[in-house]
Amino acid sequence: MTFDLLSVSRRYRGQARDLHREHVNPKWMDAMGLIGFDKEYVRALGCALWDSEGNRYLDMIGGYATCNVGRNHPDVCKALADFVTSQSASMVCFDAPLLAGVLARQLKGRIGRDLDRVFFTNSGTEGIEAAIKFARCATGRPTILHESGSFHGLSTGALAINGCSSFREGFGPLCAHSRNFPRGDLSALEAHLATRDVAAVVMEPIQGKGVFLHPHGMIAEASQLCAKYGTLLVIDEVQTGLGRTGSFLAIDQEGDVRPHMVVLSKGLSGGQVPVGAVLCRADVWGRVFSRLDRAIVHSSTFHMNGLAMAAGLATLAIIDEERLCERATLAGARLRAGIDSIATQSPFISAVRQRGLMVGIEFAAPESLRLRLAWKVTQALDPNLFVQAVTIPLMRDDRILTQVAGHAIPVLKLTPPLVINDEEIDLFTAALARAVRALEDSGGPAWTALSGIARNAAERRWSALRSRLGSEPLPTGTHRDG
Ligand SMILES: Cc1ncc(COP(=O)(O)O)c(C=O)c1O
Repeated sequence: MTFDLLSVSRRYRGQARDLHREHVNPKWMDAMGLIGFDKEYVRALGCALWDSEGNRYLDMIGGYATCNVGRNHPDVCKALADFVTSQSASMVCFDAPLLAGVLARQLKGRIGRDLDRVFFTNSGTEGIEAAIKFARCATGRPTILHESGSFHGLSTGALAINGCSSFREGFGPLCAHSRNFPRGDLSALEAHLATRDVAAVVMEPIQGKGVFLHPHGMIAEASQLCAKYGTLLVIDEVQTGLGRTGSFLAIDQEGDVRPHMVVLSKGLSGGQVPVGAVLCRADVWGRVFSRLDRAIVHSSTFHMNGLAMAAGLATLAIIDEERLCERATLAGARLRAGIDSIATQSPFISAVRQRGLMVGIEFAAPESLRLRLAWKVTQALDPNLFVQAVTIPLMRDDRILTQVAGHAIPVLKLTPPLVINDEEIDLFTAALARAVRALEDSGGPAWTALSGIARNAAERRWSALRSRLGSEPLPTGTHRDG
């Protein structure tokens, strides 16, 4: 019998959630079920998804900002198909894969900044891990500095510079030599740098968790401080890069920033194949790969795999041909105007933060006593809950995917594919207006849905605790890395 992928998909159609519940991650299935996101998607194109019942959805998450060129862009699909059907010699390992050389050259051509070496990875996290290692090796210093609220991935190295404590809980002790400074605080940064034990400062140009932008000029000043104290600057463009904010890199809009490394991933392969890249100054690279016997002192088996390289090359061509950086600026402005007009009328929206197609809508306690009480009750039940009063109706009533911007952060986040058109933007803003207006009815469906979820979540937590207490002793102390 010959293997046929399509018949496997047909045979198991409708069973995805059960399979995951049984074999993969039942907790994730519970979470998706609670907020009504437990769909089985079977087709995707551009910003659209279709479920197994033929319903169409508008994707405002964009695969965590991986689908910049739109889902299943025909040129990415063709590049992948061409690569597979051409019987290319992939994964030889003891060779110089052609497409990796071409992609490295093309990335350097777009980024410049004397970043002359490209190290490919399979993810953003791996890029950050590489940057941490390269920085320590090149400087001989131990400490890696990061901003509060940062997110750079979840492997132990990347987690050590993760500014969201919820991700670290239970996984310590992590690297002792990481420190953080308050987001945007240049004097705190300088105080750390002055100790001269800091190998690198790792920064996101715009923090993904909460969509926090830096004051204009701050990153350029941080860059100068790094130069003054001999510290390397690592710019994490995993989420902001590849046109997302209206320029190829977000730091292209930040003035004179001179990074020693730039980390890319997510949008580099058109949302199809794991990929990442660290662009690195030649002198830094030379101190890591310093001798013949260290030629692959940092590496990973799949890091230059042909599928990722082919998808990467197609993606760069699409970004140029379809002028997606410009598109992100224009579409972002339209989206922003729509959201601003909703925000000015809503007692719940306290701020809108946006650059290009990276948008955060922040919610806060309203002034009216009646609504403030409803807000406080929800916050007390669970600080992660409130924004779900917007994501749930958007999904339930309008089939639109949106997400909360981070743990206990009352921010709705949007990172749609950069190919989103005006009609889709207007459809989204009309739906958002309805969902936000419904919040003003404190006895209305949004709040009823919320209290239902809160009760449900609390019951689950309680029954989990009860069964744990019944079956095994609770640990006497849990380590929580600072
Ligand atoms: C800014 C940033 N850095 C690093 C990462 C980690 O990337 P990955 O999930 O591909 O490992 C992410 C993922 O969301 C990110 O947003």
